[in-house]
Amino acid sequence: MLTVALPKGRIAQETLEIFETIFGESFKFDDRKLILETPNFRFLLVRNQDVATYVYHQAADIGVVGLDTLEEQGLDVIRLLDLKRGICKVAIGMKKGEKLDLDKPDIKVASKMVNITKRYFEERAVSVDIIKLYGSIELAPIIGLADMIVDVVETGATMKQNGLEVVKDIMTSSTYLIANKNSYISKKDEVLSIYEKINKIIKTQDEVK
Ligand code: PRP
Repeated sequence: MLTVALPKGRIAQETLEIFETIFGESFKFDDRKLILETPNFRFLLVRNQDVATYVYHQAADIGVVGLDTLEEQGLDVIRLLDLKRGICKVAIGMKKGEKLDLDKPDIKVASKMVNITKRYFEERAVSVDIIKLYGSIELAPIIGLADMIVDVVETGATMKQNGLEVVKDIMTSSTYLIANKNSYISKKDEVLSIYEKINKIIKTQDEVK
């Protein structure tokens, strides 16, 4: 029996569809239920930011989560497979027309991804003031709370509609299948079996595209 942590929303849906394709049966959560028990799997619906936490503490054996979140959290889990879905970027955004000038003093950066932000600027030996926000990051430069933001960009629509544009890409992200280190050893056959099946399915689907 494998316990699988899935982030609520589109990724959970897509992942369950992959499981449905593999096993030819239906995997559906009842209305507001957060747990789905089947003979071979127990699926948990958790917040995106909590997936790696469940896996790290072995409350789940495997999980599906974005690389951006993994990089931000830095928890010690095994990155088994890039599912090549949920592709997005983490990028620096500024008000349209403004230029990124790292020599400018007292740079203020708003982000919900403070660790990725901190690492990016530290690697460039630029000292910045990071302002942690929990959402609607795009507001910060418009209102004057920050000079720039570091945020997830998928279609780019949110930045555009709020008068911002990407001035620098920091990283590309996609969803990953992750595993707990102990589960990877104690349940190696089960983990590798599902890894191989998912890998096969996503390869076939990508070839069709
Ligand atoms: C992310 C991000 C942007 C938006 C970008 O937020 O913080 O606001 O998506 O997407 P776009 O480029 O397609 O417009 P998300 O929807 O993940 O919500 P959150 O702020 O609650 O994390």
